[in-house]
Amino acid sequence: MSLIKINNENGISEITIDRPEALNAMNPEVVAEFTSVIQDTVENKETGVIIITGAGDKAFIAGADIKSMQKMSAEEALAYGKAGQKLTMLIESSPKPVIAAVNGFALGGGCEIAMACHIRIASENASFGQPEVKLGLLPGWGGTQRLPKIIGVGRANELITTGKIINAEEALRIGLANGVCPHDELLSNVRKMASTILRNGPRAIASSLHCIQEGLAAPIKEGLEIEVQEFSKLFHHDERMEGLTAFIEKRQANFRD
Ligand code: CAA
Repeated sequence: MSLIKINNENGISEITIDRPEALNAMNPEVVAEFTSVIQDTVENKETGVIIITGAGDKAFIAGADIKSMQKMSAEEALAYGKAGQKLTMLIESSPKPVIAAVNGFALGGGCEIAMACHIRIASENASFGQPEVKLGLLPGWGGTQRLPKIIGVGRANELITTGKIINAEEALRIGLANGVCPHDELLSNVRKMASTILRNGPRAIASSLHCIQEGLAAPIKEGLEIEVQEFSKLFHHDERMEGLTAFIEKRQANFRD
């Protein structure tokens, strides 16, 4: 039985982790299926924006699967950790923006999946945390690396070592969430944001995400060089001619037809 649902409509691909009885916890089967769905979706020419959410009203993803991990050897844990990290890298390096619609618990691996997304919108009942140390573990799907970049080292040290869970308002305050909205408006708000993105140049969006991502790990001079090269590359494509001409002709640019 499939553990991931996918719905493709009007350029938006909505991926739902569908294991609500376990609060969408990601066992190795979920990780494998999710990875293949993300790969296919990134390659799908019809897709312009990807939304990730969790089934049910309680959870986005409550983490890696604790029951599966109880039986794992160190070698199996290494493979599980690497599989989760590969998945987060696929999400983060997607040339199509990935938005996390965080509809409940985003804990452990769930918070790490949300952090790999380019944008995180939370519903009022969402909560975030890296409680792994309470289990004698550490955040193994990129949490120790991405959390300090998103919220700063001091706050990341605190969240990871206390294992405390924070609500959506606090996540917004510290920059872990981009926005918070009422629970029943979450998906419609995220779809609206996706539609706004879809009106913009897909090549320009992909290049911008590439510059941001590469620049984060590079010294400023290298980052600026990556940026100016990507800026110049856009001039090889019709997309920028459509965008610039539409402005001059005082009309809406049409990038996707
Ligand atoms: N793994 C496996 N099953 C999980 C799970 C998880 N991460 N989270 C919840 N579940 C299961 C529960 O075991 C329960 O199933 P059963 O009824 O069969 O026992 C079901 O989901 C419902 O959960 P609760 O009854 O616990 O629901 P609650 O509302 O009382 O509590 C919760 C919700 C606070 C999220 C609690 O379930 C919880 O603390 N979950 C674990 C969160 C966590 O520690 N996540 C980190 C995992 S480690 C990790 O992710 C490592 C990594 O970085 C890769």
